[in-house]
Amino acid sequence: MTDLVKISEADGVVEILWNRPDKKNALSNVMYRAATAALARASEDKATRVVVFGSEGDSFTSGNDLADFAAAASGGEPPAAHGFIEAIIQFPKPIVAAVPGLAVGVGTTMLLHCDLVYVARDAKLTTPFVNLALVPEAASSLLMPAHIGHRRAFAMFALGDAMTGEQAAELGIANAAMGASEVLPAAREAARKLTQRAPGAVMAAKKLMRDGEKILAQSRTEGAIFGERLRSAEAMEAFIAFQQKRAPDFSRF
Ligand code: COA
Repeated sequence: MTDLVKISEADGVVEILWNRPDKKNALSNVMYRAATAALARASEDKATRVVVFGSEGDSFTSGNDLADFAAAASGGEPPAAHGFIEAIIQFPKPIVAAVPGLAVGVGTTMLLHCDLVYVARDAKLTTPFVNLALVPEAASSLLMPAHIGHRRAFAMFALGDAMTGEQAAELGIANAAMGASEVLPAAREAARKLTQRAPGAVMAAKKLMRDGEKILAQSRTEGAIFGERLRSAEAMEAFIAFQQKRAPDFSRF
């Protein structure tokens, strides 16, 4: 059990809230494991119709905990992100996300697996994988260009360019952009409506709309390359630079 993720269940809705606001909700291994276990339970439990993801504080999440990445890179515990990503890709029931602010890395790529997304207008969505000498994950190398086009997606992955919440709504990554305080109520209201729909029809519609096998295969291909990159000297330079609060220097590579 961890209090870094708040998990609750009521009226057919399981709510998973990232709760580490002092670190901008950076996702540590323990947090991923808690969320993955909650998804497994929600998938099995007939009473659960919908999952809502949200967060405490003004960020959605600053992405993977970079200290955990650095530990994994030097032979420690492998990142638990992988299990979480597979669980969210394979989750058969609808997922609704409320994004009140910053969404970095997996914070943005997980939205590509959500069925309804409500985002703050001024939220910043970034996927700066290449800045960390890493590669896109969670099948985002397939899904992001499909949503927003190769050029915009490449600028996000390789230059670390941000997308605002407003742009995310225009480009179809989110259903609507609104005030930060409105996103969780909007997600809860959408989830409530979904609980009133025929659950078999909702799940069948979701399944028809996604090529689950292709998405999983792409995520696994990315995962293998991501794992190699994580152990690279380039990535170690990026992680040390973050700890030292300086820009990485890749000039020697
Ligand atoms: N992993 C670990 N710690 C993180 C973190 C992360 N992904 N993101 C933020 N933090 C920590 C910071 O180290 C800082 O801790 P401290 O108060 O002990 O120094 C605290 O959260 C607040 O972050 P800070 O950097 O001071 O806030 P900011 O508003 O200046 O910048 C970010 C916010 C998210 C832009 C910046 O923290 C950042 O770039 N984080 C890394 C994001 C990232 O690369 N994620 C992985 C993507 S795959």
